[in-house]
Amino acid sequence: MNQWLDERLHLSRLNDKFLRKAFPVHHSFFLGEITLFALVILILTGILLALSFEPSNTLVVNSFDPGTAAKPNMVPAAYHSALKINAMPFGDMLRRIHHWCANIMVAAAIIHMMRIYFTGAFKKPREINWWIGILALIFSVLTAVTGYILPYDNYAYNTVKVVYGIVASVPWVGPWLAQAAFAGNFPGDGIIPRIYGYHIMLLPMILLGTVGAHMLLMIKQKHTQPQYAKRIAYKKIVGVPLSTQQTPIMILLALLLAGIVMLFAAFIPVHPVEFFGPPSTVPINNIKPDWYLLWVFGALAIIPSLEIHLPAGGLLTSEFIGAMLFPAIPIGLMFLVPLLDRSKENLYYAENPTDHPKRLAWGVAFLAFMLVLSLAGYKPDLISAHVLPDGTAANTILWILVFVVPIVSYFLTLAIVRGIAALRAADEREKAAHALDHGQSSPSHD
Ligand code: HEM
Repeated sequence: MNQWLDERLHLSRLNDKFLRKAFPVHHSFFLGEITLFALVILILTGILLALSFEPSNTLVVNSFDPGTAAKPNMVPAAYHSALKINAMPFGDMLRRIHHWCANIMVAAAIIHMMRIYFTGAFKKPREINWWIGILALIFSVLTAVTGYILPYDNYAYNTVKVVYGIVASVPWVGPWLAQAAFAGNFPGDGIIPRIYGYHIMLLPMILLGTVGAHMLLMIKQKHTQPQYAKRIAYKKIVGVPLSTQQTPIMILLALLLAGIVMLFAAFIPVHPVEFFGPPSTVPINNIKPDWYLLWVFGALAIIPSLEIHLPAGGLLTSEFIGAMLFPAIPIGLMFLVPLLDRSKENLYYAENPTDHPKRLAWGVAFLAFMLVLSLAGYKPDLISAHVLPDGTAANTILWILVFVVPIVSYFLTLAIVRGIAALRAADEREKAAHALDHGQSSPSHD
């Protein structure tokens, strides 16, 4: 059979190129794989969900609670189809697996990115793959956000309202952009079909393209190697080949991930649509995005409300500054990482994070910055309301925290790493002196 196929498709040529690819044996390299497997589960469950989902805002009678003949209970068809999926055998479970997997994929991609940053795997020659990785992360987040708008419950409705407002706040072209992006004014009938197109076609296609390019580049440039590889065979590739040793490891990892996601889905409901109910004119208080976008809400919380008139009828609002300009700073910094790190190229080995104290400290400060912003997004009053109940003063305290916590984290990390390095050096010196003393005082055997 193998020979039959090979004579026709020349598959054995692929063997050396792809199937013999050596994979490092180290748990930190599982993070990228977990991200990839989560994407696969998302695509599979997404296809199944699409079979029964109805992408339409059109109002239909809610068959689960029809109301009366005089006053039928009308809900959007998309919302109704989400209720119908919930009522199917394993339907609710399927929705939960899909939603949990989206969270796990974004979380795994962020932790994977942290591993790449802290071990210097973004340095020459892997800068391009770092940039492609950031694009993959951005498109993962966009795909996730468009996904939780689809069931068109009251939460989704209010989310679209907020996002519509943000897009419309772009000076000069905002209203036109929002209309183009959401197929008309809010809340228009075209919104769900348009977002469905983004969620199941446009964004996944871009995501698959970026992840595909990411994988091909990783195969071409080869993984960095864990530190132990240096001791085993210096500057040689150490690892297990994809065929056959790495494949069962990957299958096990994928099964483990699927099992964990199913446990989460079975016991922890995620975004139950009936909880929020169909779209309503009663706004949800304190609407919050999923955890990975809370930092953008934090940015909105710290920007004082303002309106600046620009030439040619443009308007600069706090909404635009907080939700678009401000977030461009951390995202821009992430893109700049390979250009800002001036240490020498890294062809072979994953570096020890503590050997690069400044890079480590910058990374910790950045994480602290995003964490404080996320906390501010989650509950601005948690940090400040009891100190100063007035909104402007709350902004001031948030501003101080958003900048002071990262600065303190930076210097604290530097102090800790340098302190540990000094202790280690002292220890080494002591050991060397002890060895010398011992060598001199030990009796000669000749
Ligand atoms: C969002 C979807 C992503 C997927 C599916 C993905 C997948 C992977 C996989 C499977 C690997 C090989 C195993 C490993 O090193 O962990 C890898 C390596 C790599 N990834 Fe990602 N990744 C994603 C996002 C990112 C992000 C956000 C970044 C950084 C900004 C990034 C940068 C890299 C780099 C530089 C490598 C080579 C690492 C090395 O040689 O040690 N990736 N990725």
